[in-house]
Amino acid sequence: MPEKKEKFYLTTPIYYTNGLPHIGHTYTTIVADVIRRYKRMRGYDVVMTTGTDEHGVNVERAAKKAGVAESEFVAKMADAWRALWDELGIPADEFVRTTDLQHVRTVQWLFRQCKENGYVYKGNYTGLYCIYDNAFVNEPKPGNLCPDCDRPLETVTEENYFFKLSTFQKPLLDFYRKNPDFIQPETRKNEIISFVEGGLKDLSITRTTIRWGIPVPGEEPHVFYVWFDALTAYLSAVGGPEYEKRGYWPADLHLVGKDIIRFHTVYWPAFLMAAMLPVPKQVWAHGWFLMDAAKMSKSKGNVVLPRPIVNMLGMDALRYFLLREVVFGQDGNFSYDALVTRYNSDLANGLGNLASRTAALIEKNFAGKILKPGARQPQDEALAKEAQAAIGDVLENYDKLSFARALETIWSVIGAADKYLTSEQPWALGNSEDEQAREGTILWTTAELLRIVTALAYPVLPESAAKVWSLLGQPVAVGKFELDGLRWGQLVPATALGKAQTLFPRVDKTEAVERIEAMANEELNPTPAVPVPAATPIAGGAASAAPAASEKIGIEDFAKVEMRVGQIKTAERIVGADKLLKLTVDIGTEIRQICAGIAQYYEPESLIGRKVAVVVNLAPRKLRGVESNGMIVAASVGPEGRPVLTGFHEEVEVGARLK
Ligand code: MSP
Repeated sequence: MPEKKEKFYLTTPIYYTNGLPHIGHTYTTIVADVIRRYKRMRGYDVVMTTGTDEHGVNVERAAKKAGVAESEFVAKMADAWRALWDELGIPADEFVRTTDLQHVRTVQWLFRQCKENGYVYKGNYTGLYCIYDNAFVNEPKPGNLCPDCDRPLETVTEENYFFKLSTFQKPLLDFYRKNPDFIQPETRKNEIISFVEGGLKDLSITRTTIRWGIPVPGEEPHVFYVWFDALTAYLSAVGGPEYEKRGYWPADLHLVGKDIIRFHTVYWPAFLMAAMLPVPKQVWAHGWFLMDAAKMSKSKGNVVLPRPIVNMLGMDALRYFLLREVVFGQDGNFSYDALVTRYNSDLANGLGNLASRTAALIEKNFAGKILKPGARQPQDEALAKEAQAAIGDVLENYDKLSFARALETIWSVIGAADKYLTSEQPWALGNSEDEQAREGTILWTTAELLRIVTALAYPVLPESAAKVWSLLGQPVAVGKFELDGLRWGQLVPATALGKAQTLFPRVDKTEAVERIEAMANEELNPTPAVPVPAATPIAGGAASAAPAASEKIGIEDFAKVEMRVGQIKTAERIVGADKLLKLTVDIGTEIRQICAGIAQYYEPESLIGRKVAVVVNLAPRKLRGVESNGMIVAASVGPEGRPVLTGFHEEVEVGARLK
């Protein structure tokens, strides 16, 4: 434990504001929060920064599309990011926006330092440029086409300020050698070292073709290149030019995804060295969470959102899953099935069950008071030894950011306690003094073990750990407990149990996944407030919200919904989703795959050849992992909302539009 509170400064990347957070961004912020909570329990004075990266062409474009000024657009987005982090219980200590005045000042100051020290010069930058997108393109499509809009690129030369990155090859390589832990994990370090050994080119750090950026003072229309701007946010968040006053710089840890490691371990230390500023101590690059083996992106329709998961299973479940499922540093696949399976087995049946079993027995047999342990038997000693050994092991793994290992150890202790209870059977002991004393010892042992695993699990499971902690009647808040002092044997006998609270109610996997997916679909493609006369569109069982009777819409709103006559070609059930059918439907111009929540009411074979009304201009979405590209219209009948498909009593052509 540090004497005077030692400072620890860690950051997440500052996220782009042209989209909203998905599970990938949430992952980095959760990890930062876990480290923050852990370090605080080890006695550090911790500051965690996150924020928003608000400049550049993409924002310019998104604001234009939304028909608002850039400043208004980014203000709304920054609010949304900040609000989500608050809602999820992972708020920043410092939330930095690159449009903050303090940040603008810091970027301009850093530039001046680099320039005064002779590392910046004016030159010409020549590159392939997309006139439509107003951007230089580094990796054109074959035939020199823009990768974004497919238009032909032109070779353009513009005046830029350059940073003398080339002179930093040796200083950087020396720095990596002297600070072998600077880049983590090891594989990334080797990648970066060979990249730098390959030679560094000077870097253009201003642009004249972008409008939405931080101006270079006295050099308009130059604005700073987004990475010179964004990286500096880490410094502006803790004082900028006056960083020494607050004492958090240099950062102890920059957490980043592997996609942006080069910016953080090559450019950033070089900028700081050029300005004669201290360089961060460590950059840790984690892997990606993939969906369907691909990086998540909204355009691919494979993003996983945090909110629906949290609504269904709680934030602790998401935190636990992300940290337990994948070794920190490696890529991993995200799957709802795996999430719910882990929730039921490790949280509901594991920690949740141990806590409720122990509390119920103490409640029932000892009026809610933890007894003094009597003579210890070898099996009690063995359990104590295992829990005591776990403390050192878990702390060591947290220190190395080996979260999966730390959790594995905690859960193996929980498993041992379960076995212990099952073999000792305290509930079967009688009322004699000896048997009561034995039961008291068993329950003290289990409760003490629970106290230890709860303290150790707190950084990952803050909400549930707080519940178990107060159930065990502990006086200090678990987050304030000092882990350095954690030892077997500290549970004070006669402590009265606190109120039992539900930790992790077991869930039905199929139902839970369906509900999460339905919520995610609704968040990604909110149901428009458009009534569909005499019929309710259904897909995946998610009923649309009909507007109140008094709400009227104009014909132009109704015209936005494109409905056509479709003919069902094939229909089959989906394994693991008992409400859904997977259909292929001919809509005249193409054959579409559509999922419909009608499996409980229609036999697949009975649907082949049937003509139905289809909403064809809905954004594609995934139901139980199956792509659904459109929506079949049906009436919703009776209190249980039984779907009845629409039909036509006269011959209609496939593809005919419904008006
Ligand atoms: N604005 C830059 C960063 C500037 S830092 C000075 C940026 N922003 S971003 O919005 O694209 O966020 C990238 C970060 O989000 C990644 O580095 C990673 O931390 C996180 N992730 C985004 N998608 C991810 C996954 N699919 N999986 C895990 N993390 C991912 O880059």
